[in-house]
Amino acid sequence: MSTFKAPKGTYDLLPPDSATFLAVREAIARPLRNSGYGYIETPGFESVDLFARGVGESTDIVTKEMYAFETKGGDRLALRPEGTASVLRAALEANLHKAGNLPVKLWYSGSYYRYERPQKGRYRHFSQVGAEAIGAEDPALDAELIILADQAYRSLGLRGFRVLLNSLGDKECRPVYRAALQDFLRGLDLDEETLRRAEINPLRVLDDKRPDVQKQLTDAPILRDYLCDACKAYHEEVRELLRAAGVAFEDDPRLVRGLDYYTRTTFEFVHDGLGSQSAVGGGGRYDGLSEMIGGPALPSVGWALGVDRTVLALEAEGIELPLPSVTSVYAVPLGEEARRVLFAKVTELRRLGIATDFAYGGKGLKGAMKNANRSGARYAIVAGERDLAEGVVQLKDMESGEQAPVGLNEIVAELETRLG
Ligand code: HAM
Repeated sequence: MSTFKAPKGTYDLLPPDSATFLAVREAIARPLRNSGYGYIETPGFESVDLFARGVGESTDIVTKEMYAFETKGGDRLALRPEGTASVLRAALEANLHKAGNLPVKLWYSGSYYRYERPQKGRYRHFSQVGAEAIGAEDPALDAELIILADQAYRSLGLRGFRVLLNSLGDKECRPVYRAALQDFLRGLDLDEETLRRAEINPLRVLDDKRPDVQKQLTDAPILRDYLCDACKAYHEEVRELLRAAGVAFEDDPRLVRGLDYYTRTTFEFVHDGLGSQSAVGGGGRYDGLSEMIGGPALPSVGWALGVDRTVLALEAEGIELPLPSVTSVYAVPLGEEARRVLFAKVTELRRLGIATDFAYGGKGLKGAMKNANRSGARYAIVAGERDLAEGVVQLKDMESGEQAPVGLNEIVAELETRLG
């Protein structure tokens, strides 16, 4: 062990578990690639103001959880706590919305940073795969994203997740609701901080987990009763399309989400095997965000799924992904001459796309075969001086244990045939 440890709230991804992470990222990305989403990558940090304006000045993410710093050049930057603001910023900067093809559909995968209190499923460095569809107001687009997330989870074998769905209204009806909720909250017995929050961001109070607060909220006005006709019709259409697609969802009028940019459709994927950090993914429509960061009106919708929590959900359901063995062939040379000859064969096999590894470091037969076993390789090729003198290598089937000599000039073709 070295003097250093991974920082609090972080962990390292190591083989073999890291293979599951890659497979999860891939499984989430596959339905997106298959549905017209192009890959985007943005910097790991952005101007602090982008998140303050985008995610919301009064959110926990911005006030408590951001890794903000000043550079030597005097720029105020923050490690990205989420992807939506960055992706929209990048799309606007590159004028993707002017290329004529709306919506602009983008997907991304990467690291995000929030200074949260670490616990199982909640980390300071975590991984998301996300999707954003920018510049179209169409209930089918909202439905598409929910359907694709559902498909991603299902393709991993997950069954214990649920989709919670809500509408947060738009700039017509939400202010009316907001005022009504504020009136109600002012009449409650709440501590000072919560009362202050009620003034700045009353919807967040609905998300307060404390039982004494929740108890007082039983009769709080709910947004559903305040939705304008346009929002109601839009939401009904999203629900109808989900039903038609066979995606089960639960209406959750209390679902508010922790970011300020949402309008209309909001949703969360929760997994019941995860305890308190049960949200494996979430998203929604953000029709006003572009204007909030200085762009034109571009109604948009998206989601981000948490890779770390999806891996935990797989564990909770006891699902082991069928991961292909990393190595197919393992070469074991006995002696100097064999080392050169087999190393050349290894290179040849690799160039053919056959996953091959080599016993490095001049290990004896026993140690090298142990490594061959551990590698998960289906075949080992072993050669010593006597084999080479006869122009052969020993080909060992690691499953059956059978071993037979194969001509040095035939071995590559033989392995290629056997491995299909
Ligand atoms: P979010 O709900 O903040 O949404 O994060 C999405 C997912 O990221 C969560 O459901 C969770 O699985 C994972 N996640 C968040 N924080 C942590 C953490 N501290 N540790 C582990 N996993 C975490 C967003 O980030 C929005 N940008 C989603 C979106 C995209 N909305 C529209 N487009």
